[in-house]
Amino acid sequence: MSNNIVFSGIQPTGSGDMHIGNYFGAVANWVRLQNSGRYQTIYCVVNLHAMTMPYKAEVLAKSTEQMFIDLLACGLDPDKSIIFVQSMVPEHTELAWVFGCVCSYGDLTRQTQFKEKSEQLEGKQDGFISAGLFTYPVLQAADILLYRAANVPVGQDQKQHLELSRDIAQRFNTQFGEYFPLPEVLSTETPKLLALNDPSKKMSKSLGPKSYIGLFEDEASVRSKVRSAVTDIGNPEEPMGPGAANLLAILRACGKHDTAAQFEQEYANGPRRYAPLKEATADALVELTQHMRARRAEVAADRARVKQLMQLGAEKARSIAVQTMRDVRRLTGLFALDY
Ligand code: TYM
Repeated sequence: MSNNIVFSGIQPTGSGDMHIGNYFGAVANWVRLQNSGRYQTIYCVVNLHAMTMPYKAEVLAKSTEQMFIDLLACGLDPDKSIIFVQSMVPEHTELAWVFGCVCSYGDLTRQTQFKEKSEQLEGKQDGFISAGLFTYPVLQAADILLYRAANVPVGQDQKQHLELSRDIAQRFNTQFGEYFPLPEVLSTETPKLLALNDPSKKMSKSLGPKSYIGLFEDEASVRSKVRSAVTDIGNPEEPMGPGAANLLAILRACGKHDTAAQFEQEYANGPRRYAPLKEATADALVELTQHMRARRAEVAADRARVKQLMQLGAEKARSIAVQTMRDVRRLTGLFALDY
């Protein structure tokens, strides 16, 4: 059962801003899918997911609105896509409960993201690890399947969660009758960007500000981060390391294919000098971030419109979500007020 419905989500993180890993790994593709006219596209700021790690209420509220603004600045268009905030559609949590009952405990224990994030927390503060962090992928399956979406554009790091969503849909269908499609990953051209300060890991805010470039970051900061990005020493006898390859990937993601090809050619024929590569990468990123900053300022200037779009997006999403939940309650033998 495949269809043309696309669903994807992004977490609002502490400081709100998205980084270029989110953008090239996912959001740039969301915009392309929206503009292709071939899909019904639904995009969500997943604030309920952000509650699974320690957070402050006022920071979450602010960063949720900020992320909504960022998505508009990136080119998501409320006339073409449904764009909404997860907690404004309460059916997400209701379906997550149902799915928690068709998802095995064993499958959840095998999720690498839980292992990584719980390890991060073990050393910190009081070492508190929430059950929400453990059941996180169940809520993610509910997000997608509430809209019966078969297509999910995400970066490589979300692949395992998507496999679990398929298993959940499959188990539901076997137990209660064929109802949900089995969602598939729609891969992007840049499925994974690496941390600038530690290219053995993916770019992520949890590795600190030196690991990522924010999509709306100012020029001085972009240049200084790229300049100090970790690379190898460029010895032609050794293969190129992941840090330098990551800079080439960023250059290509910014659309500078010819420049990237020139560097590759030069490097194939002799020692690899990385200073010019860093400069070209920083130039490309500054061009992108300046454009994005201007767009964001325009969107943010009209806060009343932002609030209105948030409301409208949630209403559109909810009109689909209530239908699905009505079907799910009927299929699973649950009483509800509308019975
Ligand atoms: P999140 O908020 O961590 O990331 C949002 C999107 O950005 C991609 N991404 C990357 N891509 C390439 N390189 C990187 N370094 C990089 N870092 C992040 C992610 O793959 C993702 O596509 N669990 C999800 C949010 C979510 C969701 C969903 C996604 C909740 N429900 C339903 C799809 C469908 C997450 O935490 O993404």
